[in-house]
Order: sequence, then structure tokens, then C-alpha cells
Amino acid sequence: MNLPYIVGNWKMNGLRATLAEARAIDRAAARYPKVEMALAPPATLISRMREVVQTIDVGGQDCHVAENGAYTGDISAAMLKDAGAEFAIVGHSERRQSYGESDETVRAKATSALDAGLSVIVCVGETEAQRDAGEALNIVTAQVAASVPQGDDIAPRLSLAYEPVWAIGTGRVPSVDDVEAMHRAIRETLVAAYGKPGKDVRILYGGSVKPDNAAELLSADEVGGALVGGASLTAESFIGIVEAVSPAEAE
Ligand code: 13P
Repeated sequence: MNLPYIVGNWKMNGLRATLAEARAIDRAAARYPKVEMALAPPATLISRMREVVQTIDVGGQDCHVAENGAYTGDISAAMLKDAGAEFAIVGHSERRQSYGESDETVRAKATSALDAGLSVIVCVGETEAQRDAGEALNIVTAQVAASVPQGDDIAPRLSLAYEPVWAIGTGRVPSVDDVEAMHRAIRETLVAAYGKPGKDVRILYGGSVKPDNAAELLSADEVGGALVGGASLTAESFIGIVEAVSPAEAE
């Protein structure tokens, strides 16, 4: 049985001074042995963060499909690994939208991350127009089927993150019923892709997760954790989410 996995995506936020928040999160993590925590800072902070935290995982927010080469400004999975990362997020909707990343590209990035020895979190999610048109389930399950890496023995190093685009940074969240319906559909797609091991892939929910809605969202069937944006930037709100999911144990 997987422990809940609470992952903070700092996006393009964080300077050296912000590492104090990561340190505080890491110190607090000792009181939450029933939760796994991770932070994905900007690439500039990965190695520094890795040096100052012990308990939590550190990861990258994206990687290039190639291992190295003439790709100015890009960062490969091997470089993330070399900087101390344990995982990479790929296919975030902000990358799909701003950089036109297709499912095919996301799959190639995920494969490259696994090849470099990282775990991977593959993000999927529908737009508001797609949800309004009643297409959310079809769109998202198609994204999952086309974005997850192929092959054997992948499932243990894979997590999915369902992030409805309209819920990111907006304070709006889907109903628990809608989250459950989506996570069940994603589970079916993962089992179709990987067979039995697909049952153990964590499926995270992301989009406006806060301390006051985390307990409800994470109690939903098939929700194995959260991918948190804004509320991961301070230890107070990040640990507030963790506490809502699984209260601290006495030291
Ligand atoms: P917010 O928690 O700020 O809505 O961001 C969610 C997200 O995109 C995490 O990857």
C-alpha cells in the first residue's frame, strides 16, 4: 500500500532565500512518517536543496527528451539526476500550453527520465471548455494512454497527476465525485497499459489544493496524493496540507 505522496511544484518561484522553506518542510517531515513528501524547485535550486534536506525527495519540473546536445537553455534528465534529483515532473499543462508539448513529447520525456534513473510524474488534465463539452474523461484518458512511457517494470517508478487546467491557480476545485470518476478512469487506463502493476501507480490530484480542502480531496477513492503549486511555497501551507491528510505523530 502506497503512502500518500504530497509533491510541491514551485514552478518559476524560489531564490536561495526560499530554501529556508524547504528546510522547514524537511524538518517537519520527521513528524509525518505516514506521508511521503517531495519538492520540485526551479532547476537552479535542485542541487542546493538536495544539500539541505534529508527526508524529502527533490525533483525537476521538466526535462529534455535528449541526454545532451545542442539545445540551448534546456536541461536533460541526466543533468537533473546529476544535480541530485530523484524524480522529474513531465507534461505539466503549463508546458503543454506554453511550449506546445504533445502527448508524444511527454512520453519521450518520461522515457528519458526513467532511462536516467529518475522516477517520473506525468501530468494530464482537461481545459474548462473540454469539461463543459462533456469530454473530460475521454480527453484525459487519451492523454494518459498516449503520454505514459511504455515497457515492463515501469509502474513502480511512475506517478500520474490529474490536474484540471481550470483548477490550477484559480481556487476552484472539482467535486469529489468528479475527482473520483476521473481517477477511476485513469486507473483503468493504467491497468490497460501495464496490467496488474498499473494498480499500484499513484494517481495524484493537482489544482488549488490548500490546507482547507486537502482532506476532502485526498479522501476520494483512487487519490494517492497531491501535486501542489502555490500552497507549496511556504512550509506553513505545505505542512498544513500534509497535516490535513495525516495528522502529525508525537515525537
Ligand atoms: P496550484 O496548486 O497553484 O493551483 O497549482 C497546481 C499545479 O499546477 C501543480 O503542478
